[in-house]
Amino acid sequence: MLTMAFESNEKHATNRAERDVLVLGIETSCDETAAAVVTRSAAGAGAILSNLVRSQVEAHRAFGGVVPEIAARAHVEVLDRLIARALADAGIGFADLTAVAATAGPGLIGGLMVGLTTAKAIALVHEKPLIAVNHLEAHALTPGLTAGLRPPYLLLLVSGGHTQLLVVEGVGRYARLGTTLDDALGEAFDKTARLLGLGYPGGPAVAQLAREGDGTRFSFPRPMRGRPEPHFSFAGLKTAVRQKAEALAPLNARDRADICASFEAAVVETVTDRVTRAMAIYEKRYEKALGDGAARCLVASGGVAANEALAAALSALCRARGYHFYRPPIALCSDNGAMIAWAGAERLAQGCSDPLDVRARARWPLDPAAAPAIGAGVKA
Ligand code: KG4
Ligand code: ZN
Repeated sequence: MLTMAFESNEKHATNRAERDVLVLGIETSCDETAAAVVTRSAAGAGAILSNLVRSQVEAHRAFGGVVPEIAARAHVEVLDRLIARALADAGIGFADLTAVAATAGPGLIGGLMVGLTTAKAIALVHEKPLIAVNHLEAHALTPGLTAGLRPPYLLLLVSGGHTQLLVVEGVGRYARLGTTLDDALGEAFDKTARLLGLGYPGGPAVAQLAREGDGTRFSFPRPMRGRPEPHFSFAGLKTAVRQKAEALAPLNARDRADICASFEAAVVETVTDRVTRAMAIYEKRYEKALGDGAARCLVASGGVAANEALAAALSALCRARGYHFYRPPIALCSDNGAMIAWAGAERLAQGCSDPLDVRARARWPLDPAAAPAIGAGVKA
Protein backbone atom coordinates (compact mmCIF):
# COMPACT_ATOMS: atom_id res chain seq x y z
CA MET A 1 0.00 0.00 0.00
CA LEU A 2 1.25 3.47 -0.79
CA THR A 3 1.47 5.37 2.45
CA MET A 4 1.52 8.84 0.99
CA ALA A 5 0.48 10.60 -2.14
CA PHE A 6 -0.05 14.27 -2.55
CA GLU A 7 0.11 17.13 -5.00
CA SER A 8 -1.91 16.22 -8.05
CA ASN A 9 -0.60 16.82 -11.51
CA GLU A 10 -3.46 18.76 -12.99
CA LYS A 11 -2.87 22.24 -11.75
CA HIS A 12 0.79 22.11 -12.73
CA ALA A 13 0.58 20.36 -16.07
CA THR A 14 -1.37 23.07 -17.79
CA ASN A 15 0.71 26.11 -16.89
CA ARG A 16 4.17 24.60 -16.94
CA ALA A 17 6.61 26.88 -18.69
CA GLU A 18 8.72 25.57 -21.54
CA ARG A 19 11.96 26.05 -19.72
CA ASP A 20 10.94 24.29 -16.50
CA VAL A 21 12.97 21.19 -15.93
CA LEU A 22 11.22 17.98 -14.93
CA VAL A 23 13.21 15.61 -12.75
CA LEU A 24 12.35 12.12 -11.53
CA GLY A 25 13.79 11.42 -8.08
CA ILE A 26 14.38 7.94 -6.66
CA GLU A 27 15.17 7.24 -3.00
CA THR A 28 16.18 3.78 -1.68
CA SER A 29 18.93 4.46 0.85
CA CYS A 30 17.18 3.01 3.89
CA ASP A 31 13.74 1.57 4.59
CA GLU A 32 11.60 3.80 2.42
CA THR A 33 11.12 3.28 -1.30
CA ALA A 34 10.27 6.62 -2.84
CA ALA A 35 9.74 8.15 -6.27
CA ALA A 36 8.69 11.68 -7.16
CA VAL A 37 8.55 14.18 -10.00
CA VAL A 38 9.54 17.76 -9.33
CA THR A 39 9.80 20.82 -11.57
CA ARG A 40 12.22 23.69 -11.27
CA SER A 41 11.72 26.93 -13.13
CA ALA A 42 14.61 28.84 -14.68
CA ALA A 43 14.22 31.31 -11.80
CA GLY A 44 14.72 28.49 -9.29
CA ALA A 45 11.14 27.97 -8.11
CA GLY A 46 10.21 24.39 -7.33
CA ALA A 47 6.96 22.45 -7.39
CA ILE A 48 6.11 18.85 -6.58
CA LEU A 49 4.08 17.10 -9.29
CA SER A 50 4.00 13.73 -7.57
CA ASN A 51 5.55 12.30 -4.44
CA LEU A 52 5.10 8.66 -3.44
CA VAL A 53 6.65 6.95 -0.45
CA ARG A 54 6.27 3.30 0.32
CA SER A 55 7.38 2.50 3.84
CA GLN A 56 8.90 -0.92 4.61
CA VAL A 57 8.27 -0.52 8.29
CA GLU A 58 6.10 -3.65 8.48
CA ALA A 59 8.83 -5.81 6.92
CA HIS A 60 11.33 -4.74 9.60
CA ARG A 61 9.06 -4.47 12.62
CA ALA A 62 9.66 -8.02 13.85
CA PHE A 63 13.41 -7.32 13.97
CA GLY A 64 13.14 -4.01 15.83
CA GLY A 65 15.24 -2.21 13.23
CA VAL A 66 16.12 -2.11 9.53
CA VAL A 67 17.55 -5.36 8.11
CA PRO A 68 19.68 -4.36 5.08
CA GLU A 69 19.03 -7.49 3.01
CA ILE A 70 15.27 -7.32 3.56
CA ALA A 71 15.34 -3.62 2.68
CA ALA A 72 17.15 -4.19 -0.63
CA ARG A 73 14.76 -6.94 -1.69
CA ALA A 74 11.73 -4.87 -0.75
CA HIS A 75 13.01 -1.95 -2.87
CA VAL A 76 13.38 -4.29 -5.87
CA GLU A 77 9.82 -5.53 -5.45
CA VAL A 78 8.10 -2.16 -5.58
CA LEU A 79 10.37 0.38 -7.27
CA ASP A 80 9.31 -0.12 -10.90
CA ARG A 81 5.62 0.23 -10.09
CA LEU A 82 6.25 3.18 -7.82
CA ILE A 83 8.13 5.04 -10.57
CA ALA A 84 5.38 4.28 -13.11
CA ARG A 85 2.82 5.65 -10.70
CA ALA A 86 4.89 8.76 -9.88
CA LEU A 87 5.08 9.55 -13.60
CA ALA A 88 1.38 8.85 -14.10
CA ASP A 89 0.45 11.05 -11.13
CA ALA A 90 2.57 13.83 -12.62
CA GLY A 91 0.83 13.36 -15.97
CA ILE A 92 4.05 12.68 -17.86
CA GLY A 93 6.01 9.86 -19.48
CA PHE A 94 9.74 9.08 -19.44
CA ALA A 95 10.22 11.10 -22.63
CA ASP A 96 9.05 14.28 -20.87
CA LEU A 97 11.74 14.08 -18.20
CA THR A 98 14.70 16.43 -18.29
CA ALA A 99 16.78 14.19 -16.05
CA VAL A 100 16.65 11.31 -13.60
CA ALA A 101 18.12 11.58 -10.11
CA ALA A 102 18.71 8.83 -7.56
CA THR A 103 20.26 8.64 -4.12
CA ALA A 104 23.80 7.28 -4.52
CA GLY A 105 24.74 7.51 -0.84
CA PRO A 106 25.22 7.53 2.06
CA GLY A 107 23.06 4.60 3.12
CA LEU A 108 22.64 0.84 2.95
CA ILE A 109 24.62 -0.27 -0.07
CA GLY A 110 22.16 -2.93 -1.32
CA GLY A 111 19.26 -0.49 -1.38
CA LEU A 112 21.35 2.28 -2.93
CA MET A 113 22.35 -0.06 -5.76
CA VAL A 114 18.72 -0.92 -6.48
CA GLY A 115 17.72 2.73 -6.87
CA LEU A 116 20.83 3.90 -8.67
CA THR A 117 20.83 0.99 -11.12
CA THR A 118 17.19 1.64 -11.93
CA ALA A 119 17.97 5.31 -12.55
CA LYS A 120 20.89 4.35 -14.79
CA ALA A 121 18.66 2.07 -16.85
CA ILE A 122 16.09 4.86 -17.32
CA ALA A 123 18.82 7.37 -18.19
CA LEU A 124 20.38 4.99 -20.71
CA VAL A 125 17.20 3.88 -22.44
CA HIS A 126 15.57 7.32 -22.57
CA GLU A 127 18.81 9.24 -23.14
CA LYS A 128 18.45 11.50 -20.11
CA PRO A 129 21.15 12.92 -17.88
CA LEU A 130 21.72 11.01 -14.63
CA ILE A 131 22.31 12.76 -11.34
CA ALA A 132 23.76 10.76 -8.44
CA VAL A 133 22.44 12.57 -5.38
CA ASN A 134 23.93 12.72 -1.92
CA HIS A 135 21.05 11.93 0.45
CA LEU A 136 22.29 14.48 3.00
CA GLU A 137 22.48 17.17 0.33
CA ALA A 138 18.86 16.40 -0.55
CA HIS A 139 17.80 16.95 3.07
CA ALA A 140 19.92 20.10 3.15
CA LEU A 141 18.37 21.65 0.03
CA THR A 142 14.72 20.77 0.78
CA PRO A 143 13.91 24.28 2.14
CA GLY A 144 14.58 25.63 -1.37
CA LEU A 145 11.78 23.41 -2.70
CA THR A 146 9.30 23.84 0.12
CA ALA A 147 9.82 27.49 1.05
CA GLY A 148 12.06 29.04 -1.61
CA LEU A 149 14.68 29.43 1.11
CA ARG A 150 18.15 30.15 -0.25
CA PRO A 151 21.52 29.57 1.44
CA PRO A 152 23.21 30.42 3.66
CA TYR A 153 21.45 28.78 6.59
CA LEU A 154 22.31 26.60 9.53
CA LEU A 155 20.94 23.06 9.31
CA LEU A 156 20.22 20.59 12.09
CA LEU A 157 19.76 17.21 10.43
CA VAL A 158 18.40 14.63 12.86
CA SER A 159 17.16 11.27 11.60
CA GLY A 160 17.49 7.54 12.27
CA GLY A 161 20.84 7.51 10.49
CA HIS A 162 22.26 11.01 10.87
CA THR A 163 22.81 13.71 13.44
CA GLN A 164 24.68 16.67 12.03
CA LEU A 165 24.95 20.41 12.26
CA LEU A 166 25.88 21.93 8.90
CA VAL A 167 26.17 25.31 7.32
CA VAL A 168 24.53 25.19 3.90
CA GLU A 169 26.64 27.74 2.03
CA GLY A 170 25.24 26.99 -1.40
CA VAL A 171 24.40 24.06 -3.69
CA GLY A 172 27.37 21.69 -3.37
CA ARG A 173 28.95 23.74 -0.58
CA TYR A 174 28.52 22.52 2.98
CA ALA A 175 30.52 23.00 6.15
CA ARG A 176 29.96 20.42 8.85
CA LEU A 177 30.15 21.95 12.29
CA GLY A 178 29.10 18.96 14.35
CA THR A 179 28.26 15.26 14.12
CA THR A 180 27.59 12.36 16.47
CA LEU A 181 30.37 10.39 18.06
CA ASP A 182 28.18 7.30 18.32
CA ASP A 183 24.40 6.84 17.86
CA ALA A 184 22.18 9.00 15.69
CA LEU A 185 19.43 10.79 17.61
CA GLY A 186 16.64 8.79 15.95
CA GLU A 187 18.50 5.62 16.89
CA ALA A 188 18.53 6.76 20.53
CA PHE A 189 14.74 7.25 20.39
CA ASP A 190 14.31 3.86 18.71
CA LYS A 191 16.51 2.07 21.26
CA THR A 192 14.71 3.71 24.17
CA ALA A 193 11.41 2.59 22.66
CA ARG A 194 12.65 -0.96 22.20
CA LEU A 195 13.86 -1.07 25.80
CA LEU A 196 10.42 -0.01 27.01
CA GLY A 197 8.62 -2.41 24.67
CA LEU A 198 7.06 0.39 22.62
CA GLY A 199 7.72 -1.14 19.18
CA TYR A 200 9.43 0.20 16.07
CA PRO A 201 9.93 2.91 14.90
CA GLY A 202 10.12 4.25 18.40
CA GLY A 203 10.42 8.03 18.08
CA PRO A 204 6.71 8.82 17.75
CA ALA A 205 5.79 6.34 20.54
CA VAL A 206 8.38 7.81 22.94
CA ALA A 207 7.24 11.34 22.11
CA GLN A 208 3.61 10.44 22.71
CA LEU A 209 4.25 8.79 26.09
CA ALA A 210 6.54 11.67 27.08
CA ARG A 211 3.54 14.00 26.94
CA GLU A 212 1.93 12.09 29.82
CA GLY A 213 5.10 11.78 31.89
CA ASP A 214 7.13 13.81 34.38
CA GLY A 215 10.34 14.95 32.69
CA THR A 216 11.93 15.93 35.99
CA ARG A 217 11.58 12.55 37.73
CA PHE A 218 14.86 11.14 36.39
CA SER A 219 17.94 13.20 35.82
CA PHE A 220 19.49 11.60 32.75
CA PRO A 221 22.86 12.82 31.43
CA ARG A 222 23.07 15.68 28.91
CA PRO A 223 25.97 14.33 26.86
CA MET A 224 28.48 16.85 25.42
CA ARG A 225 26.66 19.80 26.97
CA GLY A 226 28.96 22.79 27.23
CA ARG A 227 31.66 21.34 24.94
CA PRO A 228 33.09 23.92 22.51
CA GLU A 229 32.67 21.79 19.36
CA PRO A 230 28.98 21.23 18.57
CA HIS A 231 29.24 17.44 18.40
CA PHE A 232 26.74 14.97 19.83
CA SER A 233 26.88 11.68 21.70
CA PHE A 234 23.91 9.59 22.76
CA ALA A 235 25.44 6.27 23.87
CA GLY A 236 25.77 7.36 27.53
CA LEU A 237 22.19 8.60 27.63
CA LYS A 238 20.99 5.31 26.20
CA THR A 239 22.93 3.37 28.87
CA ALA A 240 21.55 5.58 31.65
CA VAL A 241 18.01 4.94 30.42
CA ARG A 242 18.65 1.19 30.30
CA GLN A 243 20.11 1.14 33.81
CA LYS A 244 17.17 3.09 35.18
CA ALA A 245 14.67 0.80 33.47
CA GLU A 246 16.46 -2.27 34.86
CA ALA A 247 16.58 -0.81 38.36
CA LEU A 248 12.84 -0.09 38.32
CA ALA A 249 11.72 -3.36 36.68
CA PRO A 250 8.94 -4.38 36.45
CA LEU A 251 7.94 -1.03 34.98
CA ASN A 252 4.43 0.30 35.35
CA ALA A 253 2.75 2.75 32.97
CA ARG A 254 3.81 5.78 35.05
CA ASP A 255 7.46 4.64 35.09
CA ARG A 256 7.42 4.27 31.31
CA ALA A 257 5.90 7.69 30.74
CA ASP A 258 8.33 9.33 33.18
CA ILE A 259 11.32 7.63 31.54
CA CYS A 260 10.16 8.84 28.10
CA ALA A 261 9.59 12.38 29.37
CA SER A 262 12.94 12.47 31.21
CA PHE A 263 14.74 11.05 28.16
CA GLU A 264 13.08 13.61 25.88
CA ALA A 265 13.94 16.43 28.30
CA ALA A 266 17.61 15.36 28.24
CA VAL A 267 17.56 15.20 24.42
CA VAL A 268 15.92 18.60 24.04
CA GLU A 269 18.32 20.27 26.43
CA THR A 270 21.36 18.64 24.83
CA VAL A 271 20.36 19.45 21.27
CA THR A 272 19.45 23.03 22.19
CA ASP A 273 22.87 23.45 23.81
CA ARG A 274 24.64 22.03 20.75
CA VAL A 275 22.65 24.22 18.35
CA THR A 276 23.37 27.30 20.48
CA ARG A 277 27.06 26.50 20.20
CA ALA A 278 26.76 26.00 16.42
CA MET A 279 25.00 29.37 16.12
CA ALA A 280 27.92 31.09 17.85
CA ILE A 281 30.41 29.44 15.47
CA TYR A 282 28.21 30.21 12.47
CA GLU A 283 27.89 33.88 13.43
CA LYS A 284 31.62 34.22 13.93
CA ARG A 285 32.81 32.28 10.91
CA TYR A 286 30.26 33.79 8.52
CA GLU A 287 30.27 37.25 10.05
CA LYS A 288 30.91 38.92 6.72
CA ALA A 289 28.22 37.07 4.76
CA LEU A 290 25.65 37.52 7.54
CA GLY A 291 26.64 41.15 8.00
CA ASP A 292 25.66 41.78 4.38
CA GLY A 293 22.03 41.57 5.39
CA ALA A 294 21.43 37.80 4.96
CA ALA A 295 18.80 36.70 7.47
CA ARG A 296 19.95 34.24 10.06
CA CYS A 297 18.03 31.04 9.67
CA LEU A 298 18.01 27.64 11.37
CA VAL A 299 16.47 24.72 9.50
CA ALA A 300 15.58 21.49 11.30
CA SER A 301 15.09 18.42 9.13
CA GLY A 302 15.14 14.61 9.28
CA GLY A 303 12.56 12.35 10.93
CA VAL A 304 13.36 13.50 14.48
CA ALA A 305 12.51 17.09 13.50
CA ALA A 306 8.92 15.84 13.80
CA ASN A 307 9.42 15.87 17.58
CA GLU A 308 7.25 18.71 18.83
CA ALA A 309 9.11 19.26 22.11
CA LEU A 310 12.38 19.64 20.21
CA ALA A 311 10.83 21.90 17.57
CA ALA A 312 9.28 24.12 20.27
CA ALA A 313 12.63 24.47 22.07
CA LEU A 314 14.47 25.28 18.83
CA SER A 315 11.81 27.75 17.82
CA ALA A 316 12.16 29.53 21.21
CA LEU A 317 15.95 29.52 20.87
CA CYS A 318 15.65 31.11 17.42
CA ARG A 319 13.29 33.78 18.70
CA ALA A 320 15.74 34.62 21.48
CA ARG A 321 18.71 34.87 19.10
CA GLY A 322 17.04 36.64 16.20
CA TYR A 323 16.95 33.64 13.86
CA HIS A 324 14.15 32.56 11.58
CA PHE A 325 13.24 28.93 12.42
CA TYR A 326 12.12 26.74 9.55
CA ARG A 327 11.00 23.13 9.53
CA PRO A 328 9.83 21.65 6.21
CA PRO A 329 6.47 19.83 6.23
CA ILE A 330 6.97 16.57 8.14
CA ALA A 331 6.48 14.38 5.05
CA LEU A 332 9.39 16.21 3.44
CA CYS A 333 11.55 16.16 6.61
CA SER A 334 11.67 12.37 6.53
CA ASP A 335 12.95 10.41 3.55
CA ASN A 336 11.15 11.06 0.27
CA GLY A 337 11.71 11.18 -3.47
CA ALA A 338 10.84 14.86 -3.96
CA MET A 339 13.95 15.96 -2.09
CA ILE A 340 16.10 13.74 -4.31
CA ALA A 341 14.46 15.09 -7.47
CA TRP A 342 14.92 18.66 -6.19
CA ALA A 343 18.60 18.16 -5.32
CA GLY A 344 19.00 16.69 -8.82
CA ALA A 345 17.28 19.72 -10.36
CA GLU A 346 19.48 22.09 -8.37
CA ARG A 347 22.65 20.27 -9.46
CA LEU A 348 21.43 20.16 -13.05
CA ALA A 349 20.90 23.93 -12.91
CA GLN A 350 24.57 24.18 -12.01
CA GLY A 351 25.50 22.17 -15.09
CA CYS A 352 26.24 18.97 -13.16
CA SER A 353 25.38 15.41 -14.15
CA ASP A 354 27.07 12.06 -13.59
CA PRO A 355 28.40 9.29 -15.83
CA LEU A 356 26.53 6.01 -16.06
CA ASP A 357 29.32 4.20 -14.21
CA VAL A 358 28.96 6.36 -11.10
CA ARG A 359 29.01 4.14 -8.02
CA ALA A 360 26.81 3.88 -4.97
CA ARG A 361 28.60 4.87 -1.76
CA ALA A 362 27.69 3.60 1.70
CA ARG A 363 29.65 6.53 3.17
CA TRP A 364 29.62 9.93 1.53
CA PRO A 365 30.31 12.87 3.83
CA LEU A 366 28.89 16.22 2.70
CA ASP A 367 31.98 18.01 3.95
CA PRO A 368 34.98 15.73 3.38
CA ALA A 369 37.28 18.45 4.73
CA ALA A 370 35.61 18.48 8.16
CA ALA A 371 38.03 17.60 10.93
CA PRO A 372 37.22 14.21 12.42
CA ALA A 373 35.21 14.44 15.63
CA ILE A 374 37.05 13.24 18.69
CA GLY A 375 36.45 9.59 19.50
CA ALA A 376 35.92 6.40 17.56
CA GLY A 377 33.08 5.41 15.30
CA VAL A 378 32.18 8.84 13.97
CA LYS A 379 29.56 8.62 11.28
CA ALA A 380 29.94 10.41 7.97
O1 KG4 B 1 14.38 10.74 8.39
P1 KG4 B 1 13.71 9.47 8.80
O2 KG4 B 1 12.28 9.27 8.42
O3 KG4 B 1 14.49 8.24 8.26
C1 KG4 B 1 15.87 8.12 8.35
O4 KG4 B 1 16.32 7.66 9.41
O5 KG4 B 1 16.56 8.49 7.39
O6 KG4 B 1 13.87 9.39 10.39
C2 KG4 B 1 13.35 8.30 11.12
C3 KG4 B 1 13.68 8.50 12.57
C4 KG4 B 1 13.37 7.28 13.41
O7 KG4 B 1 14.47 7.01 14.25
C5 KG4 B 1 12.14 7.73 14.21
O8 KG4 B 1 12.03 7.07 15.45
C6 KG4 B 1 12.41 9.20 14.37
O9 KG4 B 1 12.94 9.60 13.11
N1 KG4 B 1 11.20 9.98 14.68
C7 KG4 B 1 11.01 10.66 15.82
C8 KG4 B 1 9.71 11.22 15.75
N2 KG4 B 1 9.15 10.86 14.57
C9 KG4 B 1 10.08 10.10 13.92
N3 KG4 B 1 11.83 10.85 16.88
C10 KG4 B 1 11.36 11.61 17.89
N4 KG4 B 1 10.13 12.16 17.92
C11 KG4 B 1 9.27 12.00 16.88
N5 KG4 B 1 8.06 12.57 16.91
ZN1 ZN C 1 17.21 10.81 5.49
